[in-house]
Amino acid sequence: MRSSVTYNAPLPLTPKDRLVIALDLDSDREAMVLVDELIGEVGMFKVGHQLFTAYGPDIVRRIKDKGGRVFLDLKYHDIPNTVAKASAEAVKLGVSIFNVHALGGMDMMKAAVSATKEEADRRSSPLPLVLAVTILTSMDDTALRRDLKINRSLRREVSHLAELAQRAGMSGVVASPLEITMLRKAIRGRFVVLTPGVRPAWAGKDDQIRVMSPGEAVAAGADYLVVGRPVLKSPDRRAAVQKIIHEIEQGLAVNKLRSGAGYSISRETP
Ligand code: C5P
Repeated sequence: MRSSVTYNAPLPLTPKDRLVIALDLDSDREAMVLVDELIGEVGMFKVGHQLFTAYGPDIVRRIKDKGGRVFLDLKYHDIPNTVAKASAEAVKLGVSIFNVHALGGMDMMKAAVSATKEEADRRSSPLPLVLAVTILTSMDDTALRRDLKINRSLRREVSHLAELAQRAGMSGVVASPLEITMLRKAIRGRFVVLTPGVRPAWAGKDDQIRVMSPGEAVAAGADYLVVGRPVLKSPDRRAAVQKIIHEIEQGLAVNKLRSGAGYSISRETP
């Protein structure tokens, strides 16, 4: 085993590193045009189910060949053995972040973590961050009770699943903006929070309901922000990215002023 761990995501995180652009586009051509436009300007590109289903792992390789980092957003949820095997494949692909559903349970998350470490060890390659999705933000308290028969509040369930993920050895969670503060209080130590549903004041909300600005989300304790449409739909996408990075810088300044909460991975050497 290696004595020190290196992650396939840069540390410490600069404001630019924290910005993940969601490649929610209909074709590989459009996706690669955007990658060419923003490479070097943002921290990472998110490949989700749409692009992956259409173009497979090759789309990840093409982004990496251009020097881009990839967050593979496939939210694995299966029996531990299957998730372990998929996790090893994510390491082989060289992604910087991938995720699994915390609802898959402790054994499944542990299997993902140990397969990731074993495969990275075998290849002497950096470790990707393995994040847990708690409860999808498309669900509310009613859906939790009615469909899943979970009787505690959504906030308590999210907090419980995040703690479970931490005990399983996961790197962190995907959390809605409104969950960040609660999670930072509930979870101690190094734990990554990646937040979608971020909207700068100058962009529309689209179908996102519970939004925060990039500055607010970072000030609340988010490590990474996933942004799609505010950049994708902008007439000047590089300018939109620059504005968001500036807001991230402002949020980090607020965060620093609030004195050493000491939670962000950017403050620790793994
Ligand atoms: O366009 P927009 O900025 O809303 O895109 C956000 C991205 O983050 C999308 O790829 C969406 O699937 C993803 N996401 C989300 N809410 C979650 C989890 C992921 O919006 N709870």
